[in-house]
Amino acid sequence: MTDAKIIDGTLFSATLRERIQAQVRDMRDLHHVTPGLAVVLVGEDPASQVYVRTKNKRALEVGMKSFEHTLPADASEHHVLNLIEGLNDDPEVHGILVQLPLPRHIDSQKVIETIRPDKDVDGFHPTNVGRLASGGQAMVPCTPLGCAMLLKDHLGDMKGMNAIVVGRSNIVGKPMVQLLLRENCTVTIAHSQTRDLAAECRRADILVAAVGRPEMIRGDWIKPGATVIDVGINRITLPDGAKKLVGDVCFAEAVKVAGAITPVPGGVGPMTIAVLLRNTLVAASRLHRLPVPEAEGLV
Ligand code: GUN
Repeated sequence: MTDAKIIDGTLFSATLRERIQAQVRDMRDLHHVTPGLAVVLVGEDPASQVYVRTKNKRALEVGMKSFEHTLPADASEHHVLNLIEGLNDDPEVHGILVQLPLPRHIDSQKVIETIRPDKDVDGFHPTNVGRLASGGQAMVPCTPLGCAMLLKDHLGDMKGMNAIVVGRSNIVGKPMVQLLLRENCTVTIAHSQTRDLAAECRRADILVAAVGRPEMIRGDWIKPGATVIDVGINRITLPDGAKKLVGDVCFAEAVKVAGAITPVPGGVGPMTIAVLLRNTLVAASRLHRLPVPEAEGLV
């Protein structure tokens, strides 16, 4: 069998960002509105600092305003909530993202619930979670929406396909299930307590892996010809001491069996920030009652 087609998230996300840049320019020229994204980081976690810096850089590249708020690790919950309330009321801010995880003394759920739902570009507020589940006008979490865009682009109509989502997090697994249901897939959600995970995976035409365990999903778990979306980004140390990024799927094995697969890096990873920019543009459009750009016909 020939190797799987590689789904190129780097290319897809670059095209999406170019389109967003043109839409931002139109919005500014025609309606005098510049979308603004505020990112809040509490503490000095190096990985989070890199993410936040990249988000700001990408927002500026497409012509948006970017507001970065960095608070010390010992900032009080009250301080964070006050900052969010200010951003909720700021007319220049259309999207608010609080980088997770937060330090343990801060209640993440309370922070998420303080963000105005129409500025919640992460789609984590219960109002948006509920709207996604019940078919309303939601802000949709960035990583699963990026996965759904890649699937739609590769497969087109997904009606009646068997899909499995491995992992049940609020950030990826659960919203991914909702997006696949919207596409009329028959969806299984698997997790750490699932019996015979390999057998469940072998039934799937679409497999989305979001468990955070390096190379857990093996080649012989995959149905021949299936489409595999690997959300995992795991840093491992090789026997010679070198570091390497791997996904939740054993790529070298899976590429021999699947019909198409996302690589790590260069698959789902770059989609997340591109969709964050898209969500910010959507939030700005809705807040100013302007036409809302489509997400590949998905939401
Ligand atoms: N930390 C890891 N992924 C995410 C995400 O999608 N949004 C936020 N806010 N924090 C994260």
